Amino acid sequence: MTDKAAAASKGLANVVVGQSKLSLVNGAEGKLIYRGYKIEDLAEHASFEEVIYLLWQGALPTQFQLVTLTKALQGEASLPEGVIEIMKRFPHSATPMSVLRTVVSMLSLYDANADDNSPAENQRKALSLTAKVPTITAAWERIRTGKEPIAPHHELGMAANFLYMLRGTMPDANETAVIDAYLVLLSEHGMNASTFSARVTTSTLSDMYSAITTAIGTLKGAAHGGANEEAMRMFFEIGEAAHVETWFNENVKTGKRRVMGMGHRVYKALDPRAAVLKSKSRIMAEATNNLKWYDLASKLEKYARQDEEFIKKNLYANVDYYSAIALYTLGIPMDQFTPLFAIARIPGWSAHVLEQWADNRLIRPDVEYVGPMDLEWVPIEKRS
Ligand SMILES: CC(C)(COP(=O)(O)OP(=O)(O)OC[C@H]1O[C@@H](n2cnc3c(N)ncnc32)[C@H](O)[C@@H]1OP(=O)(O)O)[C@@H](O)C(=O)NCCC(=O)NCCS
Repeated sequence: MTDKAAAASKGLANVVVGQSKLSLVNGAEGKLIYRGYKIEDLAEHASFEEVIYLLWQGALPTQFQLVTLTKALQGEASLPEGVIEIMKRFPHSATPMSVLRTVVSMLSLYDANADDNSPAENQRKALSLTAKVPTITAAWERIRTGKEPIAPHHELGMAANFLYMLRGTMPDANETAVIDAYLVLLSEHGMNASTFSARVTTSTLSDMYSAITTAIGTLKGAAHGGANEEAMRMFFEIGEAAHVETWFNENVKTGKRRVMGMGHRVYKALDPRAAVLKSKSRIMAEATNNLKWYDLASKLEKYARQDEEFIKKNLYANVDYYSAIALYTLGIPMDQFTPLFAIARIPGWSAHVLEQWADNRLIRPDVEYVGPMDLEWVPIEKRS
């Protein structure tokens, strides 16, 4: 490989690593499609459970299929006996993403068939993990704040159940609809970094728990799933809509900082998920009579979009920008934003794991060696 070839694929940009029937991300036109369906239609009409079925089975469910899947998810939502007790012994300072990564990995110890990679067993594990990750996330929030975890409600859908387990009260229809739309919008997204890492792990013939644990670790970074939390921290740092211009000029124009929640490796137009979440976050802000953060975020977006560098580099709001406002307004703690992203993405990751298994080859790229050559061995006593 030449220097030029290595530089051209830095960050694997524009490298096609395989084929998938799960989703199409059209970055130039700002379009996202799951198995043929436009994301805007799914966010408007489908529940998270319908999208889970779509991703795993390749078609929208009938009423009977949806009820069957919903019941199966409800039946799998409880954690194995003993897991909550172990979580109670974790240091309360542990971050929710680290807890999630650890507990998902730990679940494999409670599964006698963890290493059975047959399609039926992998489908069962996908269902079990999808059902249990909201329970882990909500339980950790309660444990670290000195409260008793709440058992999953066996009649609620996933969006409502998450809010119920987190707070101990029934969410209203507005709140459930915002979480449901968020989960639908984030459940799948082509060959992003965490999905790729799940597929790499699978390609070595490792198990579903290892693949999902890998993906959670990858999602945690601020350049990926961690960006929604960072975006909210940035809005707090700016503090007031009146400070937007000064903050941008002092931090972004000087090259010291990036606007978190803006820019994307693939989207060079507005992320279609950001458009839906902008309207959802406005609905939540109005419902809670707290437009402060929504107004600040829209002012910063507008100001940044007028900047010549942002125009030239095609930097638009991404999914994390307005999801931060929507989730904050819903009262979700900021460091639980990324775990909520993980809850949404388990169906997508597991669908990719199943797809990888269906036509696997070890993923093992190459690297261009640019280090020294032909050095002479020096005995340890002669090294300086
Ligand atoms: C998402 C992201 C990591 C994509 O990275 P990438 O495709 O590797 O793009 P690069 O980091 O090479 O950035 C390309 C250029 O745009 C600039 N840029 C990218 N995102 C920017 C942002 N949010 N604010 C300011 N400038 C940004 C970079 O400084 C770089 O400028 P340069 O060419 O003059 O050096 C990047 O846009 C980013 O860091 N965004 C903020 C974090 C975020 O929201 N992540 C969630 C993604 S869904």
